[in-house]
Amino acid sequence: MSRALRSCGIDLNHWYVVARSSELKEQPLGVVLWHQPIVIYRDCDAKIHALEDRCPHRLVKLSHGRVIGDRLECAYHGWRFSFAGECVEVPYLEAKQKLPNCRIRALPVQELDGFIWLFPGDTRLAHLQFPLGVPEWEHLNYIGTVSVINCAAHYSYLIENLMDMYHGHLHNHYQAWTGAVLKEICEDTHRVDALYQAESYYRIDKIWSISQLFFPTLRRLHSEPLKVSYIYPHWVSTLGEDFKIYCLLCPVNQLATKAYLVHFTSLNAFKRLHKLPVAFRQFVKNSLFGSAQKLLDGLVSQDVQMIEEEQQAHLDCPEQQSYELNRALVSVRRLILNQAGRELDKNDT
Ligand code: FES
Ligand SMILES: [Fe+2]
Repeated sequence: MSRALRSCGIDLNHWYVVARSSELKEQPLGVVLWHQPIVIYRDCDAKIHALEDRCPHRLVKLSHGRVIGDRLECAYHGWRFSFAGECVEVPYLEAKQKLPNCRIRALPVQELDGFIWLFPGDTRLAHLQFPLGVPEWEHLNYIGTVSVINCAAHYSYLIENLMDMYHGHLHNHYQAWTGAVLKEICEDTHRVDALYQAESYYRIDKIWSISQLFFPTLRRLHSEPLKVSYIYPHWVSTLGEDFKIYCLLCPVNQLATKAYLVHFTSLNAFKRLHKLPVAFRQFVKNSLFGSAQKLLDGLVSQDVQMIEEEQQAHLDCPEQQSYELNRALVSVRRLILNQAGRELDKNDT
């Protein structure tokens, strides 16, 4: 496999997910997005801001500091910074001294659908792109579960894993899906859609059928379309009408990738449930949040093991050729390299 693919960068001019909204409380939070340490914090009105995570005074992390009003205070000597990144206060400034003319970078950031989205590229382009969004997060008809992926591998391995539905073999024990057959691929400059026909173990059409998530004996295999889409830089999948899954990416560097896998079970089939009061439906949604946790965490740990082994094998022997039969992965590799400003070479096909 080519070195170009396994070491290529990301297109910075997209919205990436760096944290869940619930992770950011009163304390600033340090994150890393493609080599850039960034501090995110909530001001006194709970509005989110993002700054370079480096105090210009002695270059320590601002994320060790604290929030005062809408300013971020460095832990070391207490210099304070506005959300625009200007140094606006030094506690020991003498009468004749001026504030240092140092400014750190402020990055576009927004909170949407339960996650914090950050734009690490050219700030002037941020308004031209839209975050992917997760509309099911607030929708009363969807039960969510989130699993965090942390893998010691280039993000291309994770995307390939997610787009190659033939790896249901790895998860047989969890009964996620089986018997995938690739039917169609559509691709353009920013997305790849792969349509498989597969068999699902679950059919969520009666209220009791939610219990299929917990009791394997209630499951019945049946054929369903399985669609997986790489909508750069994130991934979305639907299995029949019942399940929707997102993978929201935060590539950390060439050898580390963080991502949030967000699984939704649909309650769309329960028409009578929809007539009940909103407060009750919200209660049902909240009470069932995380109901697929064991399944999702299990799938993630199996995938991460394979992905990290692939990465390690590549590091041990970069010239070693591997074999690929899934046509969707050729499209995925082309997209990754195009977005990174590189071209597919013969080793990537
Ligand atoms: S290092 Fe931040 S105030 Fe001194
Ligand atoms: Fe998997």
